[in-house]
Amino acid sequence: MVDNAQGATYKGKLITFEGGEGGGKSTQIKKLAQTLTNKGYDVVVTREPGGTDAAEALREVFIKHKGYDWDVVAQAYWVFTARRLHLVEKILPALHGGKVVLCDRFTDSSRVYQGIAGELGLDKLESIKENAIGSFEPDLTFVLDIDPVVGLERAGRREANENSFEAKAMAFHEKIRDGYRQICIRYPQRCIMIDANRTKGEIYKDIESECLKSLA
Ligand code: TYD
Repeated sequence: MVDNAQGATYKGKLITFEGGEGGGKSTQIKKLAQTLTNKGYDVVVTREPGGTDAAEALREVFIKHKGYDWDVVAQAYWVFTARRLHLVEKILPALHGGKVVLCDRFTDSSRVYQGIAGELGLDKLESIKENAIGSFEPDLTFVLDIDPVVGLERAGRREANENSFEAKAMAFHEKIRDGYRQICIRYPQRCIMIDANRTKGEIYKDIESECLKSLA
């Protein structure tokens, strides 16, 4: 079984970034990685689904093909298979090595996309999660909250659009936004909601200050 973040036995920190489409997670992660590296932290940047060769292969099937159309139980097992590989092979070794791991999406994405928007239900999701990764949770989670109209417009401007989820209806994206709000209420100790309807610079200022506070 993997470590329990509550009684963490490692020196590093796992910081995750969550939110709906077009919130600008990857831009913020890049900037934060640069700042932390300049300050002398050993930083690992990774993403989900994916992060290792095998988990990236699972991602390809999940995203480029019909992952979004699958039965939601199958989706949940698929993302937790990828997550287990990612955690055991990459995240935990980095945390034990004292690194700061910045991860684009993690378990909260499954809670929101499969558990809430996909209507699997949070109880079923938590039971799959418990079997796959035990009580492991990130140390800090930034939820980039964005109006779906703004987010989808931003996401549509991307050059390489591999994300089948973006084709889904606005109602689904509203559910996602609401789902993340529920997650922030459920896990107030580690989740910080960031207003992502602002400029990249304004968003970054908040993320950097909260992150440095947490690492101090
Ligand atoms: P990605 O291109 O990484 O989207 P984004 O740039 O918005 O992060 O695609 C990942 C998609 O996979 C995203 O729509 C959310 C979905 N997803 C799940 O449904 N469950 C999960 O557990 C994870 C990690 C992602």
